[in-house]
Amino acid sequence: MVRVQENRRAGQLPSEITGFVGRKAELSQLLKLIGGSRLVTVTGTGGVGKTRLALRAAAAASGRYEGVFLAELSDLRDPGLLERTVATALGLHERDTRSGLDAVLERVRNRPVLLVLDTCEHLIDECAEFAATVLARAAGVTLLATSRQPLDVPGEAVLPLAPLPVVADTPGDAVELFAQRAAAAVPGFTVTDGNRDDVARVCRRLGGVPLAIELAAVRLRALPLRDLSARLDRQFRVLDAARRGPAPDRLQSLHGAISWSYNLCSPAEQAVWARLSVFPGDFSIRAAEAIVAGDGITRDEATTAIIGLVDKSVVPRSDAGGTRYRLLDTIRDFGAARLAESPAASAVRDRHAAWYFQAARDFYRNLPSGDQLEDLARLRMEHPSIRAALAHTLSRVPPAGARAAAASGVPAQARWETDTGMSQDPETRLSPEEEDRLRREAASGAADQYA
Ligand SMILES: Nc1ncnc2c1ncn2[C@@H]1O[C@H](COP(=O)(O)OP(=O)(O)OP(=O)(O)O)[C@@H](O)[C@H]1O
Ligand SMILES: [Mg+2]
Repeated sequence: MVRVQENRRAGQLPSEITGFVGRKAELSQLLKLIGGSRLVTVTGTGGVGKTRLALRAAAAASGRYEGVFLAELSDLRDPGLLERTVATALGLHERDTRSGLDAVLERVRNRPVLLVLDTCEHLIDECAEFAATVLARAAGVTLLATSRQPLDVPGEAVLPLAPLPVVADTPGDAVELFAQRAAAAVPGFTVTDGNRDDVARVCRRLGGVPLAIELAAVRLRALPLRDLSARLDRQFRVLDAARRGPAPDRLQSLHGAISWSYNLCSPAEQAVWARLSVFPGDFSIRAAEAIVAGDGITRDEATTAIIGLVDKSVVPRSDAGGTRYRLLDTIRDFGAARLAESPAASAVRDRHAAWYFQAARDFYRNLPSGDQLEDLARLRMEHPSIRAALAHTLSRVPPAGARAAAASGVPAQARWETDTGMSQDPETRLSPEEEDRLRREAASGAADQYA
C-alpha cells in the first residue's frame, strides 16, 4: 500500500482511502507494459477504475525508478497550463522563469522517472503532443497515462480496462467490491448464500462499473437489498425508455447509477451537489459550507446536505486525514449540468471566487509572521480553485473582467503562480500595464486597498 501522507506534496502519490479489489491480471499486465514501453495509456469508461489501477501500478513499480510523480490533470481546464502543472508535480517551483516544458525536460532528461498523467481525455491533443516531446527528448522517462481514449502517439501501448467481472468466479470481484462498500455503510453486512444472487443482480445491472457499485452499495443504509435491486430495475427501465439512440452499455450503467443516486437525494442535497461542482479540485468542508449556502439554502441546511452527500459516497474524502473532499469527475460533470440550469449558478461562482481570493490575500498578508512552508503547502492545495476563481472573474466582459480580477486584490504572486496559461487568452488577458501595476501593488502591499 502507498505510504499514508496527511499533507501530500504536489506530485506525490496519494494514499489509498478505501480497499482495493481484484485487478490482479490487469495489474501484472500493466506492470509488464510499463517495463516494455515508454508510454502506456490505461483507457476505459468513466468510473471503471483507471486511476486506481494506474496508481497501484505506479506504487508497485516505484522501485524501478528514481522518482514516481503524479500530475492530476482533471482539474485543469486551461490547456496552456499543462506543462506548468507537470512541472509543479515534478517539484519545480513556479518562480522558475523558463517555460514549463524546458523546466520539465531539464529536470527529467536523463533520470529514470515514472510520470503518471492522470485524466488526459479533455486535453487529449495537448497531452499527446507533450508525450511525444517527452518521449523524443527525455530518454529516461516513462509515461503512464489514464484517459477515456488513447493519446494516439507512436509507441503508445494501450491497456483497455473493462469493468469488474460480476460472477466470473465466486465471489466475483464486483460482488466483492459491493460487499466491502456495503459493510462500510452497514456494519455487519456480508454476502451470504441467501443474498448472493441479489447482490450479483445489482452488480450486473450496474455493468460491473466500480463507481456505480459504490454509489449503490451505500444506499443499503436506507434500503433493504431487495428494494435496492427493484428500484435500480425501475430506474433503468425509465432510462431505456428515454434513450433515443443506442448508448454504450457501460456508460449507460454509470449514468443510470448517477441519476438514480441523484433522484434519491433530498432537494437540498441535489442543489448542493450541483453547487459543489464549482470546485475544480478538492476542498475543505469549511469552504464548501460557505460557498454552497445562500440562494435559498441556509448554512445549517448546507452542512446537513454535505454530510448527507458524504454518507452517500457522492462526495468522498480525498485525504487520509479526512479534512478534504472532492467530487469524482463524472459526478462533478453531472452536478455542473444541473448547476447550469440553476438561477443560482453565477452567485455560487461569485462566492467561490470571493472565498479563494480572500484565502490568497490572507496568505500573503500573514506571510512574514506565519509558518511559511506549511502555509504555502496549504495555499498550493487551493491552486485549482484560485485558478477557477480568476477564470470566472476574468470571463466577465473585458475590460470589466480584468478590472474585477485586479480589484479582487489577489496579489500578483498568486496570480502569477496560478494563471500563466490563462493570461495567454487574448479575450481575458490583462494588458502588460495592468499586469505590471498588479505586481507593483502586490510588492508594495498596496493590493490591500482593494480588500
Ligand atoms: N479495483 C478497485 N477496487 C476498489 N475500488 C475501486 C477499484 N476500481 C475503482 N474503484 C473505485 O471506483 C471509483 C472510480 O474509480 P476511478 O476513479 O479509478 O475510475 P476512473 O476510471 O479513473 O474514472 P474517471 O474516468 O472518472 O477518471 C473510485 O471511487 C475508486 O476508488
Ligand atoms: Mg480517473
